[in-house]
Amino acid sequence: MARRVRRRVAVLISGRGSNLGALIGAAQDPDYPAEIALVLSNRAEAAGLERARAAGIPTAVVESRPFGRDRAGFEAAVQAALDAHGVEIVALAGFMRVLTEGFVTRWAGRMINIHPSLLPVFPGLDTHVRALAAGVRLHGCTVHFVTPGVDEGPIIAQAAIGVRADDDEASLAARVLAQEHLLYPAALAWVAAGAARLEGGRAVVDAPATEESLRSPLPASPPLPTRKA
Ligand code: GRF
Repeated sequence: MARRVRRRVAVLISGRGSNLGALIGAAQDPDYPAEIALVLSNRAEAAGLERARAAGIPTAVVESRPFGRDRAGFEAAVQAALDAHGVEIVALAGFMRVLTEGFVTRWAGRMINIHPSLLPVFPGLDTHVRALAAGVRLHGCTVHFVTPGVDEGPIIAQAAIGVRADDDEASLAARVLAQEHLLYPAALAWVAAGAARLEGGRAVVDAPATEESLRSPLPASPPLPTRKA
């Protein structure tokens, strides 16, 4: 039987790499439509690099700091590493560098990102603190195609959780992260298999959304107030 083609994916990280770990785990299934061909970090001390090495995945470090404001120079070095490993799809996973329009355009429809909020609310940093401050009842994470506007690209998939009255930043972050680890491997699989595509500036997704991840757990209804006689 013909084996399915696995698309070659680079995961770009800057830190601990827990989403990278989820992607590595998913790609260990030979039927997963992508293989992690490269893990690239802009910081040599990123803990995620160790996860990659432990899994026997090639790594590359392109330190952004020496390039200073020369973003094009930094990205040329990143592109060279991607080319050297025959990368077809780029998955940003906690990659803390804003990419230039030129680089993003080059990877249009082939570069995705995971963000810890239900975009378009709370783009940028400190999403959990901002969600708590805003008093939202639903929070979550989003996987989207990368476009030049930060966290603005067409949405591929989202997972929502309910915000609890006693949540703090850490508890909220932990529950969202657990959803990220389920959502990102699923979304990458859709993109790799061609079931999620960028068409005319919109994300077209053939894969069905999973009802469970879209539903927010609601508390049991409070008792109806009784009318005093
Ligand atoms: C995640 O919350 C992700 O949504 C955001 O950066 C964080 C990376 O965490 N883009 P990790 O390095 O994958 O653990």
